Amino acid sequence: MKVSFAAVTLPKSGALAVPVQEGRKLLPTAAQLDKKTGGALSRAMSGSRFEGKSGELLEILVPAGIDNDRVLLYGLGDPKKLVDRDLQDAGGNLAAKLNAVGEKAAAVVVEAPGRGKGAWAANLGYGALLASYRFDKYKTKEPASKKLSLAKLSVLTAEAADARKLYRDLEEIAAGVFLTRDLVSEPANVLYPAELAARAKALSKLGIKVQVLGEAQMEKLGMGALLGVGQGSARESQLLVMRWDGAPKAKDKRPIAFVGKGVCFDTGGISIKPASGMEDMKWDMGGAGVVVGLMRALAGRKAQVNAVGICGLVENMPSGKAQRPGDIVTTASGQTVEVLNTDAEGRLVLADALWYVQDKFKPRAIVDLATLTGAIIVSLGSVHAGLFSNDDALSEQLATAGKEVGELVWRLPLGKDYDKAIDTEAADMKNIGNREAGSITAAQFLQRFVEKDLAWAHLDIAGVTWSKKGKPTAPKGGTGFGVRLLDRLVAAHYES
Ligand code: BES
Ligand code: MN
Ligand code: ZN
Repeated sequence: MKVSFAAVTLPKSGALAVPVQEGRKLLPTAAQLDKKTGGALSRAMSGSRFEGKSGELLEILVPAGIDNDRVLLYGLGDPKKLVDRDLQDAGGNLAAKLNAVGEKAAAVVVEAPGRGKGAWAANLGYGALLASYRFDKYKTKEPASKKLSLAKLSVLTAEAADARKLYRDLEEIAAGVFLTRDLVSEPANVLYPAELAARAKALSKLGIKVQVLGEAQMEKLGMGALLGVGQGSARESQLLVMRWDGAPKAKDKRPIAFVGKGVCFDTGGISIKPASGMEDMKWDMGGAGVVVGLMRALAGRKAQVNAVGICGLVENMPSGKAQRPGDIVTTASGQTVEVLNTDAEGRLVLADALWYVQDKFKPRAIVDLATLTGAIIVSLGSVHAGLFSNDDALSEQLATAGKEVGELVWRLPLGKDYDKAIDTEAADMKNIGNREAGSITAAQFLQRFVEKDLAWAHLDIAGVTWSKKGKPTAPKGGTGFGVRLLDRLVAAHYES
C-alpha cells in the first residue's frame, strides 16, 4: 500500500474520510461536506452511536450532493489528549474498513489542533500502512475480492511537506515490522536456520554487514549448548551476526546489542510437546525475527547508532542423534549445564549467543528477545511482554518506549532466591527450575551468561509474538512486537 501526502483539496470521487471531534463536533472539512450534502453527515451521526470518540468510525454511503461513493467519519476524541498512537490507530481502523469494503484508493483528511509539523498526518499514514499487512502468499486460489484491496491512500493535510519527511522514517520502520511478520509466518519446512540466515543476508544491500557461522565454526567456539539443541535436526544450526554501523565517527563506538532466540521449530525434542497446538512452534524464532526486522528498520532509516544483532538459529527435533534428558553440555562461557528437559531449549541457545556477543563486541548494553516460556503467557497474557533486567535505567527506558509505541512491557523480579532453583548436583546448573516462577527461573538462567556490570534486559515475548485477535495496527497473526519498541529505544537513548 502506497501512502502519499497532499494539500487539502477534496477528491470529487472515490472514498473520503474526515475527522470529527468528540461531541460530534465537525472539523472544517467535515462541516463543508455536511453543507454540500444537505446535512447528511449530521443526520448520519444522530442516527447512530457515533460520537466522535477516538477509535470510532461511521460510514455514509453515496451521500446526495457530492460524487464520492463513500464518506467515512473517524473520531478524534478530545484533540487536547491526542497522541501519535491515536492517529496510528485511526489510520489502522480506516485501512481495515477500506480493505473490508474493497476500496482500491481513498483520501483521508487530517485536521486537528496541536502537535503540528505534519506529525498527525504522518502517523495516520503509518498506522494505515501497519494495518495493511496480510500473509497470503500460500493462498493460490483466493479470488481478488478476498485480498487486501487498498493500494493507495492519499493523506490530505495543510502540513504535507513536513508529513512526507516524517513518513520516510516511519515507512522504513514498517518495512522492518513487515519483515518480522513474514519471518514468523513462514512455516518451518520453508524457514529453517540456513533459510532465515539467507533472508538476513539479503539485507546487505542496505549496508548491514551479515556474517553466518555454521556448526564447525561454533564447535571451535565451544558452543555446546546451542549445538546440543540442534543436534537432532537434519538442518544445520547457524549463528547469524548482523552489524549496522551508523554512528558518526568521533562518538562512542561500542554497539548496542540485540540477541534473538531463533528456534525455527520447537518440537520439544526428546521431551516432546503434545500434538495439539504444536504448529504454533513455527514462530519460536520470533525473537530472531524481531532482531532481523529491527536491523532492517535501523539501516532503512540510517539510524545514527552502532548496533549488532545476533541470532542463534536451530531446529529442536527428536531423532536418533538428538540430545537426551540428563545430558551435560559445556557452553562457550565454560559453564556446564545439565539438560533435564530438552524442551527448555531457548535458554541453551541464548546462553551461547549471549556469551558470543559480549566476547566479540563489548557492547554498551544488551537486549535479548525470546519466545521463552509458556509461563509468561499465564502471567501477562498477550498484553505485556515480560521484562527482566539487571539495570533500572534500561528498564525504565524500555517501559517508556513501550508505552509510546503501544508495545507494552512489564518488569518482573530477578534475585538470588530464584537463582538457587537452577542449581544442580551434577553440573554448574540445570536448564529447568521447579514448577514455580518458570519465566523468572528462565531469566535467571540467562543472567548467568551476562557479565555483572553490563546493562542487560531480557524480553519474554511468548505471549505477544502471535495474535489471534489483532489490533488496529497489527492484524491477527505475526505482530512484529518488539521492532517498534526497540527502534524507539535506540532513537530515544542510543543515537547521537
Ligand atoms: N518455545 C517454548 C515456549 C512457548 C510456549 C512459546 C508457548 C510460545 C508459546 C519454550 O521452548 C518451552 O518449551 N518452554 C517450556 C519450558 C519448560 C520445559 C521449563 C515451557 O514453557 O513449558
Ligand atoms: Mn521448548
Ligand atoms: Zn522454544
